[in-house]
Order: sequence, then C-alpha cells, then structure tokens
Amino acid sequence: MCAFSTIALESGSSCYSEPVPLVIAPARAMRGRIQVPGDKSISHRYAILAALADGVSNLTNYSPGGDCQSTLACLEALGVRVTRDASGEGRVAITGRGLGGLVAPAAGLDCGNSGTTMRLMSGVLAAHPYATTLFGDASLSRRPMRRVMAPLTEMGARFEAAEGDRPPLVVHGGALHAIHYQPEVPSAQVKSAVLLAGLHADGTTSVTEPAATRDHTERALEAFGVPPVIQGRTISVRGGQRLQARDLHVPGDLSSAAFPAVAATALYGSDVTIEGVGLNPSRAAILDLLRRFGAIVEAQVEHRDNGEPVGSVRVRHGELQAVEILPAEVPEIIDELPVLAALATFGGGVTVRGAGELRVKESDRISSLVGGLRAMGADADEHPDGFTIRPSRQLTGGVVDAHHDHRLAMAFAIAALGANGPTIIHGAEVASVSYPSFFADLDGLRA
Ligand code: S3P
Repeated sequence: MCAFSTIALESGSSCYSEPVPLVIAPARAMRGRIQVPGDKSISHRYAILAALADGVSNLTNYSPGGDCQSTLACLEALGVRVTRDASGEGRVAITGRGLGGLVAPAAGLDCGNSGTTMRLMSGVLAAHPYATTLFGDASLSRRPMRRVMAPLTEMGARFEAAEGDRPPLVVHGGALHAIHYQPEVPSAQVKSAVLLAGLHADGTTSVTEPAATRDHTERALEAFGVPPVIQGRTISVRGGQRLQARDLHVPGDLSSAAFPAVAATALYGSDVTIEGVGLNPSRAAILDLLRRFGAIVEAQVEHRDNGEPVGSVRVRHGELQAVEILPAEVPEIIDELPVLAALATFGGGVTVRGAGELRVKESDRISSLVGGLRAMGADADEHPDGFTIRPSRQLTGGVVDAHHDHRLAMAFAIAALGANGPTIIHGAEVASVSYPSFFADLDGLRA
C-alpha cells in the first residue's frame, strides 16, 4: 500500500498508476529531506550512448519514469541487450552494439509520451540503413518533428510523417554526411539529434545554438570517451569515433526537485532538503528564480558524477515577491515554468514572455496551465507566448485535467497545496512519466 495522510485517491485504490482522479488537500507546511528519481535527460543520453558503445555499461539511478523506460524498450527492439535489476536502485546494464550496429526492428518503436526518445532516436536511426517507424501516445502524436527532420534530411536521411511533420515518423536511414546546423529554436533535443547523427557521419558535424540549452549530451559524449569540441555556442563532433562502455551514476533530476522546492518556497514555515540532485549550470537557473520569488535557497555541489555536478539543495520559505521572467531566461527554465506558475498563485505573481515553445510540449502548456489554474480560482491570463498570474486571490481548489502532461499534473498538485479547498486532478497518473513517486513523496513532506 502507498501511505497517504492527506492525499487520497477517490476510488480508494492503493497505487498512483491507475487512471482515477486524485484528490489533493491543502497543506500547512513542507518539511523534511528527500531524494528525487534519476535525471530524465541524462538517463536517455546514457542509455542511447551505451547502446552505441563497445562493451557493457552499468548505469545506476537510471530514471524509473515512463519516458526513460520507453527509450530502453526502443533500444531493446533494435537488438540491444538491456538487463534491469529489480532492487529499486535504477540499475540497468546495457550491452552496446557498437557505432552503427543497431539492427532493424521487427515492428514500429513505441516512444510513449517521450519527445526526447523520438527526437534523439531519430538522430541515431537516420544513420542506420533501414526504415524504422517511431510512434507515440496521443500527446506525442501532436508534437512537431520538423525541427529534427530538417537537419537530418540535410545529412542524408529521408522521413515520412503524418500531416507534414507529426508522428508517426518513418525514418529511412543510411550513410550520412556532416553538416553545420543552426537551429532556429533553442532545443537540446535538436542539438542532440544532430550530434548523435554526426557521430555516424562522414566528417565533422557541428551545431551552433541560438541560445545555450542543457549540455548533458556534450558531457555524456565526453564520459563515453568521445569529447566534442565546444567553442562558444558551437558544438562539434567528428564522425566515426568509437564510444567506450562506462559505469555511470545518474544524478537526481533537478526538474523533479523543482516541485518540492516550490512547495517549500510557497508555504510558510517550510524547510525541505533535496539530496543527490544534479546541479548542472545549464539546468540550475531555477534555483535563482526561487530566490527571486523570495525563497532562501542553499545549493552545494558535493561531487561530480561523470562530469555532472551533484549536491544538495535546501529550500526555505520566504516572503513571496512578484517576478517577471524575460524571453532570454526561458530556455534554461522551460520545464520549470508550469511549477513557477503554480508558485505565483501563492502570492507575488508572475509574468512570462518569449515562451511560445510551451505550446508544443506534452500539452499546450500555456492554455492547459492557465485554464487549470483558473479552474482552481486563479486570476490568470494567457498570452500568445506566455502567461500572467496575478496574486490577487487565494485559490479555492477545483477540478482540473492533466492533459497527458506530467509537469501539469505535478504543477496543479503544488498549486492545490495553497488552496482553501480540495483539488481533483484527472489523469494525475501521468506524473509517472518522469516522477513515479511524486505524490507519495509530496505526502511524506507534509508537516
Ligand atoms: C530535453 C530538452 C527540452 C526539455 C525536455 C527535455 C532534453 O526540450 O523541455 O523536457 O532532454 O533534451 P527541447 O529540446 O524541446 O527544448
């Protein structure tokens, strides 16, 4: 049985993975220490690079989330041996097939809810001489793929897609040539897809980013023995280099930690420490934002795991302030915007601009977020490229839908802690895409 005190499933079911509405009760404060699951972005990259490497890589603290399990299942379908250990420590052993060694799958590959799986695997499959179909759930089937199709086509692959660029995607791979690519949108997924294809290409492939995005692929390539050359915002990789299997530990996911950290920021008297979490500077802008909202945040790098800084973060409540998030800040906190919107409902308020990318995430994260928060009583407005949340009233609670979007399910749950009545979240089980133990962890922090 999952332990509940103030969070209860309506049906009385004992597990969070079933599709039943979840009721979230308000909270007084959050106190305690927790560890969050392994980083989703890093887990995808270690699994994929391990599959392309020579030898057996042993990963620990691999993300238990549905997205990273989708990546493992895709790799297995491509002939990669994956051994999972049931210890609960996220141990995964991956026997690499060597560069270019993935075998044609017997059927289409199911990427589930995971855009990262589909886009990164497109880069890998672009270099393999057969056709592979990549498909996903209803949410993923609406997401644009032109951003990876364009550069990979330039490198020599061919694609078929529904409605121009929507999944299912058929990747016709083959010999690739190196390109220099300048994506229009800052996207770590696009950068990574091109670099993964570039590993197999003839020549040196480079990507110049319009704004810096998370650099886990660069650090992971180095960990597997193929360091890319980085000059400013240009990252280059020479094709044909062999990756070496490694034993790697995945740090805790700072984007998952953002949810309890926001709850601690929001609720008077809170004091929460998250241990063993990744503190990569390209992901850590959320910590400064929490400070701008008024939180007292202490973050300390304690060690490095394979080039990724890791440490603990202590967050205490402080008086909430109004915050304006500028377009230039958006790429580094794109995944945290839903939970920052939730934070703004506790007081302070927020305005975000330059975040049109939110409309093509797991859901349209502008309209679903604003719609949901309004249903809970928020004074909120949608903009074409962002939103405004005014701190004029306390939430009442209400009925919301997670829209197949893990971060929305969790953001609504955080906002619900500050309401003066209960909130019912439909489709809350989607949180398991990145953070299966989220609701239990949140419950455990209630003071
Ligand atoms: C990710 C990159 C980001 C992020 C997503 C994970 C990654 O997407 O929103 O959750 O692991 O590369 P974009 O590349 O679309 O910005």
